[in-house]
Amino acid sequence: MLAVFKALPLLILLLSVEARHRRSIDLIAAHSLISDSRLPREVTPNTYNLHLEPHPSEGHFSGRVRINVTWQEPTDKITLHAHEDLEIFKIIVTQFAADDETEKASSTPLPPTEIRVLKTERVPKKPLYVIHLEKSANRGTQCEVDLTFKGRLYNDTSEGLFRSSYIDPETKTLKWFVATHFRPNLARRVFPCFDEPAYKVPFVINVARHKSMVALSNMPLETTEKMEGKPDWVWDRFQQTPPMSTFSVGVVVSEFANTDYNTTDEENNFNFEIRVWARPDFISALANVTDTVRKSIKILEEFWGCAYPLPKIDLLALPNYQATRPADNWGLLLFKESELSGRRSWHVSQELAYQWLGTLATPFWWSDAHINNALARYVTAYTTVKMETNESFNNWPMTMLYSIYYEFSKRYPHGKSTAIKQDSTSAKTELVFRMLNYTLGERTFKHGLQKFMTDRQYKTFFGDDIWNALTEQAKFDNVLDDSMTVNAIAASWITKDRLPVINVTRDYKKKTVSIAQRVYLRERPHDVPDQEKFVWWIPIILIRQDKMNFTNSTPTIWMRKEREITLTNVPSSDNFIIVNPEEIGPFPVNYDVKNWNMLAQYLCTENRIKIPVNTRAKLLHDAWNLAYAGDLSFATALNMTLFLKHEREYLAWDPVFTLIDHIGRHIDSSAVHKKFQTYVRLLLTPLYEELGDEPKDDDCEGKIHLRSSSKVFLCQAGYKPCIEEAQAAFKKWMEIENPDEGNPVSNQYICPVFKWGTNEEWEFGLQRVIKFPPNRKQNERTYLLKTLAGCPNEAEKIERLLNITILEQNGNFTDNDVYLIFSMLTGSANGYTTLFNFLKKNWDTIKVRFEGKLHLWNSLITSATTVFKTQEGLDMVSELYVQRQSEFGTADFVIEKALKNIKEETKWSNDNLPVIEKWLDEYLQANNATK
Ligand SMILES: *[C@@H]1O[C@H](CO)[C@@H](O)[C@H](O)[C@H]1NC(C)=O
Ligand SMILES: *[C@@H]1O[C@H](CO)[C@@H](O)[C@H](O)[C@H]1NC(C)=O
Ligand SMILES: *[C@@H]1O[C@H](CO)[C@@H](O)[C@H](O)[C@H]1NC(C)=O
Ligand SMILES: *[C@@H]1O[C@H](CO)[C@@H](O)[C@H](O)[C@H]1NC(C)=O
Ligand SMILES: *[C@@H]1O[C@H](CO)[C@@H](O)[C@H](O)[C@H]1NC(C)=O
Ligand SMILES: *[C@@H]1O[C@H](CO)[C@@H](O)[C@H](O)[C@H]1NC(C)=O
Repeated sequence: MLAVFKALPLLILLLSVEARHRRSIDLIAAHSLISDSRLPREVTPNTYNLHLEPHPSEGHFSGRVRINVTWQEPTDKITLHAHEDLEIFKIIVTQFAADDETEKASSTPLPPTEIRVLKTERVPKKPLYVIHLEKSANRGTQCEVDLTFKGRLYNDTSEGLFRSSYIDPETKTLKWFVATHFRPNLARRVFPCFDEPAYKVPFVINVARHKSMVALSNMPLETTEKMEGKPDWVWDRFQQTPPMSTFSVGVVVSEFANTDYNTTDEENNFNFEIRVWARPDFISALANVTDTVRKSIKILEEFWGCAYPLPKIDLLALPNYQATRPADNWGLLLFKESELSGRRSWHVSQELAYQWLGTLATPFWWSDAHINNALARYVTAYTTVKMETNESFNNWPMTMLYSIYYEFSKRYPHGKSTAIKQDSTSAKTELVFRMLNYTLGERTFKHGLQKFMTDRQYKTFFGDDIWNALTEQAKFDNVLDDSMTVNAIAASWITKDRLPVINVTRDYKKKTVSIAQRVYLRERPHDVPDQEKFVWWIPIILIRQDKMNFTNSTPTIWMRKEREITLTNVPSSDNFIIVNPEEIGPFPVNYDVKNWNMLAQYLCTENRIKIPVNTRAKLLHDAWNLAYAGDLSFATALNMTLFLKHEREYLAWDPVFTLIDHIGRHIDSSAVHKKFQTYVRLLLTPLYEELGDEPKDDDCEGKIHLRSSSKVFLCQAGYKPCIEEAQAAFKKWMEIENPDEGNPVSNQYICPVFKWGTNEEWEFGLQRVIKFPPNRKQNERTYLLKTLAGCPNEAEKIERLLNITILEQNGNFTDNDVYLIFSMLTGSANGYTTLFNFLKKNWDTIKVRFEGKLHLWNSLITSATTVFKTQEGLDMVSELYVQRQSEFGTADFVIEKALKNIKEETKWSNDNLPVIEKWLDEYLQANNATK
């Protein structure tokens, strides 16, 4: 938990950023499935005929499955997947075709004969069910395996076959529904089957339901028949599906309403049905979904060059749907209500993308799921960008790109978190697809993928099938020469937990440029072993000032895992060059100082807009991050911010907010910090004043972001009007009679008040936490506590908080609260310095208090010692270490690591602070803002 807090800047924790859910969960599941129990390949399925009879109000279901199978090897047993909760009580195995030998020998077909089952067996600790037959059968034998079973309807998860309910507002009665969610391998919970993605065969699905309900499945309804002995019940039989994996099977039985739909739409060449379902009082919120689906499918069909494969698609909004991701059964998608009613289209597009990639063409085994996921992400982004013409899709791909730059340049990428690793790896592979689209050209890229889809539809694939198809197309279109393959290019990117940085150095006399690649490391120290072993295939796309053309994204040359190359015929010394525009490849670029300065100057002119906004953002983002890493002078990097005076595009500003946050926190213990805050105010005030306080109706999303971010950062830097506004809002809370009943102050005002406001205001906030009523939302209390600890500029406020919670052991604070306070204090020099002094002063008392609470003790030592950044801090921590050497106990290893880190940070500060200060002095002087 601590690691997560430390990785996230305070501001990011406090800003409510719209989180973008990704399917990383999927990948984690896929990852753990790589070693799932495999079935022997002796007997394989040809078709399934499935009957399911769910009884939602009673919480159980029964069923029967008849699987048509063929012997691939001689054997006397059939092995299936079946979950241990599934009760199987009748098995009949009927042989209806002889094996290959007998078939050849006789011309008349064999009459169906039953093969006796000797016994059945469950493999201990594995979801395997083995049927032992009285005799062995040979290769080519065909049988029908007929199994009858029953099981429980889950009501506490949204997995397998589950049930849930809602209250019908009109009749005030309870309404049940049942639905399935079999990804990744939960079909085995509902019926015995060959539950591996590679067994793709047709299914006939039959569902029993009460007359008042509606059943849906993957395919359209074929017939409805009365059920024997139950007058109110019927059997719905659905058309046979195309070949598909078990995880694609879907069934829903409900009393939902659906939107009106048109069966066909001649004009748009649509010949399948789209229906949207929800409980009756929610359906009006989904009025526009059909339209979104129609548009999205059109784009996907165009992308894949292949029509949506089924005759219909149903999308359902399920009340109480609990799974973290939608269920993408083929032709039957299940969403949370809020996801389907949301304004954004990408949730829907993402699931639709999986209808082709994953369902129509399926990864052979879970080890290929990673690449499927990454390509589906790319296709989702492609679709979303095409659909949302006015809005950028969460700044795709910049937001994601910046976060993987930070992640992969750490000393230890992803820490120990599998979730972070899966997500950043998937993001990186998505960006490799984006790079291939640009460098091979969109036409070649799409044709290659279309060929892949044509080839693998209704079948399975391996990751290499995708790279092979792209290579073939690229060769056919003459965009890669014979010595190159997409496989090699892709492998150099996806097999490493690192990204490259390239160093572009021009020789202005000879008109040449030398380009060198190495591992990109940002967080220090840069002592990662085996750095020389890392090399990539890197596309060099070069833009020159004298012939500026950003539309051509064909590489001038590929670095073929070469450390260094030299290009000739570069423009003369008064023209800049830009390498890797638009972040075509996921790597930063460093230049020589002269080229940087030419860029900085050009950006300050009106001509700036000839460089597209994502490239302007990249230049700025690369510059300050390279400076942060110690690979570029801060003077050069800060010059790259000068053009912002004229810049009004959100995307170009975006990197600056992270700059202010990262650099600001890094220097906030030094005297330079005040000057830096003045610089921030000078930078942001004109922007903020121009945007105006109040949102306007026609503001685009970018403008809204820009206004709110500039405000947050101005407030943080002590901009007077902002603090006054915040205090005025806070005052209303202080004046109401029962302040504990609710908080009328918007979150954005709270941190500025605790940071720049009075002790009285802060103390009022503290009292609200102490007296927080248990029936109110606890996350409001958590937010208050975080800001009380993380925001203040003054040591007294923090001391007071520590006194109350640790020394006085006020009963209103839990261990988790204390833990949270420690984490928040690492966000500012004032926080961790105060915590350190508090620890030093009250050492003996705290040791007693935390006896038996080792996690708190370790967390305290970590927060109080590891984040110092200067010589002074180093001296303080070393002194404490010497003084208390034998008393750190379990936290001993923390402090040794801390000292090493602080030394590294101190070196950074010694190298960079004088440069930053000199630059700021000059800047402030030029802007008449000294003091
Ligand atoms: C079983 O599947 C095979 C291969 O698809 C098919 O030829 C045969 O007719 C099927 N048998 C039955 C009884 O459905
Ligand atoms: C789920 O089912 C169990 C047993 O069938 C029942 O005791 C429990 O109350 C049910 N829970 C919900 C949320 O319906
Ligand atoms: C169905 O199609 C007709 C004719 O194209 C159109 O007027 C009508 O609005 C459509 N209805 C829906 C629900 O889309
Ligand atoms: C559907 O779209 C229309 C037009 O874009 C919009 O006015 C309406 O609010 C949308 N309805 C819902 C339920 O989102
Ligand atoms: C794919 O590449 C083309 C240039 O070849 C570019 O115009 C297009 O925007 C790219 N698509 C995506 C989704 O990045
Ligand atoms: C970039 O290359 C130049 C010339 O080869 C070299 O002097 C400089 O140190 C390199 N910079 C980095 C950060 O590697």
